[in-house]
Amino acid sequence: MSSVLEPARDPGPVTAEAPSNIAFIKYWGARDLKGPVPFNRSLSMTLDACRSICSASPLADGEDDEIVWLEEPGDGGSGAAAEAPPAFVERTRRHLDRLREWSRHTAAPYTGGFRIATGNTFPAAAGIASSASGFTALTLAVTAAMGFDLPPRTLSALSRSSGSGSAARSAYGGYVEWPDGDDNSAVQVLDEDAWQLCDVVAVVETGAKKVSSRDGHQLAVSSPYFAPRLAALEERLEQVRLALRERDFEALGPAVEEEGIDLHLIAMSSRPPVYYWTPGTIEVLAAVRDLRADGVAAYATMDAGANVHVICQPADEARVAERLVALGSVERVLRDRTGGPPAWRRGAGL
Ligand code: PMV
Repeated sequence: MSSVLEPARDPGPVTAEAPSNIAFIKYWGARDLKGPVPFNRSLSMTLDACRSICSASPLADGEDDEIVWLEEPGDGGSGAAAEAPPAFVERTRRHLDRLREWSRHTAAPYTGGFRIATGNTFPAAAGIASSASGFTALTLAVTAAMGFDLPPRTLSALSRSSGSGSAARSAYGGYVEWPDGDDNSAVQVLDEDAWQLCDVVAVVETGAKKVSSRDGHQLAVSSPYFAPRLAALEERLEQVRLALRERDFEALGPAVEEEGIDLHLIAMSSRPPVYYWTPGTIEVLAAVRDLRADGVAAYATMDAGANVHVICQPADEARVAERLVALGSVERVLRDRTGGPPAWRRGAGL
């Protein structure tokens, strides 16, 4: 029996949406940046409001790919076309080539170009993983426009081949684990309806970060604390898995906050050191501790940036947001929660 993937329909224009995610156990440090192959398993919560939207329209044979960047498309955003940053265009073009190459191993190789229009529902550089949602939306839109209906495992592996490891986790809703080693697709551990949590993002910095996560992944192994981190991580991961299974927020929160700090401990002790935190980060971390002292169960985590994701339960969301928005260094607060999987529809209208 042949295992060659068959298309489900003829090529045609498609619009896809994919969620971002916030890691509870971080992917930090790559054995190989090309895969990428991580040193450790990671586990994240899929977000709902923070999404990327991408339309892909097949072009006539011989026409070159065309890439358009949109300012915050969808409800509430302007959706206006803006100048796409050159590095973004370059990464997008490379991924389109990768997807055409992938299609050569299917029953319907696709050699033509695409018109791509894409953007995020959240402001750029808000400390939300836009590469995870962006590459997942691009991968889903392009493969669906080629005529394929990918199973999530394949979407996960293909999205990750963009070089954004966290994109492996945006192929599913709910809570998602990406194994280490050569296992290149993530798996869902709990769906979004099983447990709804909130992510209140305190934005203290809107400029682009000075050191990319790619460079951070490369430097991580130079930290003298990297090996002890890996040795301790399996136990923390198990604590997070168990807390998710038992919907035990008081067990989940401390593990998530400890892990968020750990990533930055590794970054700051890398050689050369990488500092993502700003005084605003410290102010938010102190406010989160104050909230807990006042009896509000709220726990902080940060990706490779200064902004702070405060994880809490729905009943506490308003109180957490109110406290954070009042801080001098907080420019704005984004309120998000556990979200569902990516989706696509026919047509190119965003
Ligand atoms: O997917 P990348 O290469 O941008 O790396 C993601 C790194 C973190 O966001 C800091 C952690 C994670 O697991 O999402």
